[in-house]
Amino acid sequence: MVKVGFYQFYPKFGRPRENLDTVLAALQDVDTDIIVLPELAFTGYLFKNREEALGLAEDPNDSAIVASLTNVCQSQGFHIVTGFAEKEGEKVYNSALLIGAGGVLSTYRKLHLFNTEKSCFDPGNLPLTVYRVQGVTIGMMVCFDWAFPEIARVLSLMGADLLCHPANLVLPYCQQAMTTRCLENRVFAVTANRVGTEDRPHARLTFTGQSQITAPDGAILYRAGPDEEGLFTMEIDIEKARDKRLTPHNHLFEDRRPEFYQALCQKGS
Ligand code: ACM
Repeated sequence: MVKVGFYQFYPKFGRPRENLDTVLAALQDVDTDIIVLPELAFTGYLFKNREEALGLAEDPNDSAIVASLTNVCQSQGFHIVTGFAEKEGEKVYNSALLIGAGGVLSTYRKLHLFNTEKSCFDPGNLPLTVYRVQGVTIGMMVCFDWAFPEIARVLSLMGADLLCHPANLVLPYCQQAMTTRCLENRVFAVTANRVGTEDRPHARLTFTGQSQITAPDGAILYRAGPDEEGLFTMEIDIEKARDKRLTPHNHLFEDRRPEFYQALCQKGS
């Protein structure tokens, strides 16, 4: 059994130090193996423009936040997946980082930018990858990637048992959609959403909470409330993600017919 969880909270826009303190306080004394934090957990979400995003983003190789999270992983023996505004030179990505006692183990840069994110971030440019920690193969996706089933499928075909899914959801569809993402791939998912309203001079958004742990049979193992802040963990039997059979005669991966899926690999219009 593996213990997984999320921390659903209200990141304050433009106050990374304060958000880090909030996260560190929440992670104190937590007994878990893997914990997932929301998308853009330290900066907040509703950037005015690219300059503002670049100004708040950090290079993970030179980030006090990443150093602090690494220390927590070291002292408590767990792994963290967190949303992170990632700066690389003059590029800025909406990323997810897998962090362990040795620092950043794996980086995912959001491939499918949502709405006005397109004017604030560079689209992801790294190949999809999975990473094994604590006996679990982890694949990372960020928020709106839920609407592109190809991501969950590719990560699952690469061997992911668990989709770690930092999110800042504003539409009402994702939590239910994740039951299908998990069922069709027979994987677990931890969707870590945020709560609260960001009221900036240029725009206002309310986030939907309801962070969720979803099972390979599509069952919602736990769903948080829409407004509550808190940390939740539970044990999951990761072996359940390794049986891709839906019936004695149907294996969800072996039954695929990729020779008929060419349109999937062409850019749509
Ligand atoms: C989203 O991708 N943050 C909705």
